[in-house]
Amino acid sequence: MQSLSQFLAAHVASSSLQEVLLVTTETCKEISAALKKGSLAGILGMAGNENVQGEEQKKLDVISNNMLKNALLACPSVRAIASEEEDDIVPAHTTGEYLISFDPLDGSSNIDINSMVGTIFSLYRTTGDHPATEVEFLRPGKEQVAAGYVLYGPSTMLVFTTGNGVNMFTLDIDQGEFLLTHENVKVAAETQEFAINMSNQRFWSDAMQAYVSDLVLGKDGPRGKNYNMRWVAAMVGDVHRILCRGGIFIYPWDKKDPTKAGKLRLMYEANPMAMLIENAGGKAFTHTQRILDIQPEGIHQRVPVILGAANEVDKCLSY
Ligand code: F6P
Ligand code: MN
Repeated sequence: MQSLSQFLAAHVASSSLQEVLLVTTETCKEISAALKKGSLAGILGMAGNENVQGEEQKKLDVISNNMLKNALLACPSVRAIASEEEDDIVPAHTTGEYLISFDPLDGSSNIDINSMVGTIFSLYRTTGDHPATEVEFLRPGKEQVAAGYVLYGPSTMLVFTTGNGVNMFTLDIDQGEFLLTHENVKVAAETQEFAINMSNQRFWSDAMQAYVSDLVLGKDGPRGKNYNMRWVAAMVGDVHRILCRGGIFIYPWDKKDPTKAGKLRLMYEANPMAMLIENAGGKAFTHTQRILDIQPEGIHQRVPVILGAANEVDKCLSY
């Protein structure tokens, strides 16, 4: 079985991109090890701070963020980082070729119930010799050179793309290596499985309510087939399921939010997941546009997300 370093050597031309991906994934192995210790490591629970979105940070959010931040800032190929847990970008090396945005621990409310969480990352290439600014990060997702996540589940998996298909690696804990286990994964165009937080139903747009009502009507409704529903409450887990067995994932804007922005963050949630889903043959849209075409206005910007099986995303948008 091919190891991650062998795979990178064979498929990623830029040695600096290889370096950034290796530093990121090595750190994720350490995060995985910390998570495996659970309560024994005395690291669960709140850290007592709020992040820039006003959400309470869990201790492990802070720990994971610091681990990634320290490792990436020390990496000469990194120009700057942006993180869900940092208000501003953090500059690294003025000649670094890569800007990396990450969600250090997505779905962190799952930590206390020993359920799935993950690290999501997105990379852009940059040139020249100057200190990074936030403006440099504000490029549409279609310019990402690599994107992926590490899922901390029953096994730890790395899933990433450099624009040439999506590959999955499983962490072999005996060797301490990510090994290529699923090559060039594809998302089927049709599905009978959806993921949405139904508790927000009454706040959705009328169109979204009509679409989901028709799914729930199953064989007796206009869709003429029964649908199953799943919700991991960690985007990384829901997207992983879709890459493994298909489906549609939706986090729509709702009427509680006059800006219609939704919950998920463009730079380190929607964009990297959209790049993965598109590379696997699926689609990723807001209610009005392709996610990868959005011109970002801020590193912590939020967007509505509808992604997964191509025909199902089209159907949803047709409402
Ligand atoms: O990072 C935000 C997030 O935790 C996603 O991972 C997940 O999809 C979503 O929020 C869960 O939202 P809710 O709390 O509405 O289930
Ligand atoms: Mn998240």
